[in-house]
Amino acid sequence: MFKKGLLVFISLVMVISLFGCGSSEEDVSKLEKIKKDGKIVLGTSADYPPYEFHKEIDGKDKIVGFDIEIAKKIAEDLGVELEIKDMQFKGLLPALKTDKVDFVIAGMTPDKERAKEVDFSNIYYNAEHGLVILEKNKDKYKSVEDFKGKTIGVQKGAIQERIAKEQIADVKLKSLGKVTDLMLQLKKGRIDGVLVEDVVGSAYVRNNEGLLLTDIVLKDDDGGSAIAIKKGNKELVEKINKTIKALKEEKLIKEFAIKANEMLQE
Ligand code: ARG
Repeated sequence: MFKKGLLVFISLVMVISLFGCGSSEEDVSKLEKIKKDGKIVLGTSADYPPYEFHKEIDGKDKIVGFDIEIAKKIAEDLGVELEIKDMQFKGLLPALKTDKVDFVIAGMTPDKERAKEVDFSNIYYNAEHGLVILEKNKDKYKSVEDFKGKTIGVQKGAIQERIAKEQIADVKLKSLGKVTDLMLQLKKGRIDGVLVEDVVGSAYVRNNEGLLLTDIVLKDDDGGSAIAIKKGNKELVEKINKTIKALKEEKLIKEFAIKANEMLQE
């Protein structure tokens, strides 16, 4: 009788400790995991200069830009290495939700739809939206009305899809995964314009002959970029906001942006 009781007791203890292990594994926060692994994994879409773009440095392909500088500072403040994963913009939030990346910095606008799926840091940069066209069509496109019924290139999954539909009458959209491909389509004359953040438009114009950024500004209430983090990681959001605050106070984000623009020209 006593032996049986002991056996039951021991197995109970074992079951409890097993469960205990399981849940403590889950309880390890994202922040703790990042620190334990010694690295934080960034998800980005490196087709968006000066935010993030590819550049050959000493014969090697590198991802650079002011978002990357911010990511480096976040990693540094956490005392860990930074690993970068480049993917299509529309794949970023799915990757974040399935823990393939720890945070997303990609000139991403924290709009209401996305905020239902993930958490956002405070805004770190503001920009408006601009239309890139072929320079030779400069006189054709003077106002938003001139784009009525035209074909506009937008990045798949980006808010520009919505902005174009809302602000350009009868617009036809050409959605592609990479902004670099949109610009190619424009150069080939297959589309009439590309809608991107204005700073991105001027970056492409600078590096591609025959392109022009119109003066037409498309405003949007959701404007600005923020860093996305998987829901339920308050500590990590707080740490990231702390780094953003410090960078802003020292006017370093502006400086990063200037540096990124210079890198484009080199
Ligand atoms: N701000 C826009 C958005 O959030 C476009 C961002 C595109 N970013 C990029 N790295 N391609 O939808």
